[in-house]
Parts: sequence; structure tokens; C-alpha cells
Amino acid sequence: MSSHDPAQTRPRRFTAAGPLTGRIRVPGDKSISHRSIMLGALAVGRTRVTGLLEGEDVLSTAAAMRAMGAEIERLDSGEWVIDGVGVGSLLQPQTALDMGNSGTSTRLLMGLVASHPITATFVGDASLSKRPMGRVIEPLSRMGADFTAAPGGRLPLTLRGLSPAVPIEYRLPVASAQVKSAILLAGLNTPGVTTVIEPVPTRDHSERMLKGFGAKLEVDVEADGTRIIRVTGEAELKPQVIDVPGDPSSAAFFVVAALLVPGSDLVIENVGLNPTRAALFDVLRQMGGHIEEVDRRDVGGEPVADLRVRASALTGIAVDPAVVPSMVDEFPVLFVAAALAQGRTVTTGLEELRVKESDRIAVMRAALELAGARVTETEDGLIIDGTGGDPLPGTAQGAAVATHLDHRIAMSMAVAGLASQAGVEVDDTRPIATSFPVFEHLLAAATGTA
Ligand code: S3P
Repeated sequence: MSSHDPAQTRPRRFTAAGPLTGRIRVPGDKSISHRSIMLGALAVGRTRVTGLLEGEDVLSTAAAMRAMGAEIERLDSGEWVIDGVGVGSLLQPQTALDMGNSGTSTRLLMGLVASHPITATFVGDASLSKRPMGRVIEPLSRMGADFTAAPGGRLPLTLRGLSPAVPIEYRLPVASAQVKSAILLAGLNTPGVTTVIEPVPTRDHSERMLKGFGAKLEVDVEADGTRIIRVTGEAELKPQVIDVPGDPSSAAFFVVAALLVPGSDLVIENVGLNPTRAALFDVLRQMGGHIEEVDRRDVGGEPVADLRVRASALTGIAVDPAVVPSMVDEFPVLFVAAALAQGRTVTTGLEELRVKESDRIAVMRAALELAGARVTETEDGLIIDGTGGDPLPGTAQGAAVATHLDHRIAMSMAVAGLASQAGVEVDDTRPIATSFPVFEHLLAAATGTA
């Protein structure tokens, strides 16, 4: 039976609690954790990783890399050690690769397999099986890989890789770090120069980490901001010691909760602040949020700081669509902040949100409405008229927000529950474990209800 059998959902009502205070530390960055395991598995020798996110998505990546020959182990100290097979030496997996809920695992691993002489079948849960894979199938087919996918380019999908693959120059038609990364990873085992042209910058963890592992990778930035990324294959990767910074996308839920719950004064330690990820914090500051960076430093080649967040009166704004890629996962929780702000918040340019773990525009509209917020859905965003700081009414008895197997909907509406009169009932909290297994524990600790 699937772990997401509807008969086994784990509903919970999140209710107003005390202010959020003290110091917390959120788990490691999900994007960086996936990449640490993948590149560690492709290096020759032993990579060591501390601070790895031990969420279901990252564990799916680890299981897949084991199935293709890498040795991956968690030590009692919490450190992970990865003995890689070397670029070009991935083994044929003996069974289908179960990607669970994880789009990042699926798309990046498709890139890896595409330039190896192996065949792999990818399967996933109901949410992942609805998500479009055509965006990676298209460029990887140009490199020579062959695909059989479910209708609409979806999972389950079988990929036959080609070695040697053909290097391509590819201009990204959608702003997607997953598509960019899939092509760059395929390029590692492809003789010659594989080029990705990125008109709108997206998270650059793959580029940073590939350089760290010793790949020949160059990035040129044109006058209009277009990035041209070239990787030369066949690469030889050297094992690394990696310290994964805290995930800004996980910190986001606590930042918004502390802004909304009166009396809060919370420090979130060790938050990754890569500029291609951190736009939410700037947007919240524009809305009047008190978010202070303390002790800015470098961890694992990424900028990091502790964030001190104090309860604040927020004002609605029009969010600049140019920032969307650098906070693409943070809109659900921004919508919650907007629902409590003074005045109107308008978001545009969010088409990509419709193909995340759920259709985050439609699902958040329905969820916030059920909690009593005033929300209008447009084709590419939401318009939200805030309460001016008053708590939301909350969901009625017997009415639960539908999360559609989407961890970020569950956590965003948990935050809404903290800022509500009657609380917010969430239909299923299990998906939270994909990215933030200790979320409920940290929430109890920060609100003094542990
Ligand atoms: C990710 C890229 C983003 C993001 C996802 C993680 C990554 O997806 O939404 O959670 O690690 O590369 P897209 O590339 O589809 O925008």
C-alpha cells in the first residue's frame, strides 16, 4: 500500500499558540542536499556531508544513487559518507527508481542517466505523476536519450541513455533550475561542451557545486542578465567535504509565523541566503517585516546568516514578477502573510506555480478562502485583501484544507492556523516529511507548547 493511501491521512488542526521565541535551526537545504548526494556519487572517492536534509525527497535520491552503484551511508554522528563510482560508471538499476514526491530527484537523475549506457524506469506518487517531464525529455532527447513516457510526458517513464551523448546548446524556454541542472548533469559524461542559456537566472547551486567538485564549468553573464553556462565533458569529479546550510524555504514558514504572531521575537540560525533563493525576505521587508541578518558568513560555498524576526504590522504590495524565480517555492507562505497584511497584495507571473507538487495558485486560493481570507485568483497569480493584522476566522468544524500531497501547502496553512481565531484544519500533514520532517516539533518548541 502506498504511504499516501487516503485511508491513512494524518489530519491536524493548527491553532493560535504563544509568540514564537528563542532560537531554532532548520534542517539542511533540500536543493543542496540532492546535489551533494548526486555529485558525491559521481566523484571518485569519498565525499563527506554534514547538515544533509534527511527528508523523504533526499532519501529518494540516495536510494536511486545506491541502485546505480554508489555506496551511501549515514554515520551515527549524523554525517553522511558517499563513495562515488565516477562519471561514466553508473550501473544499470535492477528495479524501477521510486522518486516518491520529488520532482528535483526525477528531473536531475534523468539528466544523469541520459548520458550513461543504461536504462532506468522512474515512478512516483500521485502528485509527481501529474507533473510535466516534457521540459527535460525535450533537451535530453536532443542529446540522444530515448524516452517512453505516460501520456503528456509524465511518469511512469523509461529512459534509455546514450553514451557517448551529443553535446547541445540549449536556451531554457521556462525559468527552471531543474531543467538547467538536468542538462548540465547530462553534460558531465558527454564529450565536448554542453551549453545552457538561461535568460532569467534561477538557483545556481548546481553551478557552484560542480565547480567545487572540480568540473570545468564557466558562466558568462551578458549585459541583459542572460547567463551562459558551459560544462565540459567528460568530467572527472574530486570528492568534497560539504556542510549544507539551513534551507531558506523551510525557514520561510518560521519567518512568516514570527512576523504574524504578536509578541514574537525569534532567531533562526544558519539560514542559506544565496541571492537566487532569498527574495522572500526582501519582499517581506518591503511589506514592513522586521527581519535582521546577524553574522553573515559563508557555509559550504553559500552565503548564510542567522535571521532575527520580530512580530510586525505588514502592508500589502504589488510583488515584482522579476523576483519570482528567486522565491518560487515561497509564494504559498507569502500568500498567508498577505492575508494578514493591511491592504491589497498583488502577485503576477506565477504560471510555474500551477505545475509544482500541486497547482499552488488554485490550491492556496481554496485553502485561504476556507480559512476566511479574501482572495481572487487570476491566470498567473493571486490578489489578496488582507485583514490589517486581525486574525483570520479559521476553518469551520468539519471543514479541512485540501493539501493535495503538497508539503508547502500543509506548512503554509499551519502558519495560517497560528494567526487565526478558530484554528485551521489541514487534511493531511504527512507530506511535510518530504522536505521538513521536524517542522511540527520545531513549531511546538518555538511556541512553547512542546
Ligand atoms: C529546485 C528547483 C525549483 C524548485 C524546487 C527545487 C531545484 O523547481 O521549485 O523545489 O532544486 O533545482 P523548478 O526548476 O521546476 O522551478
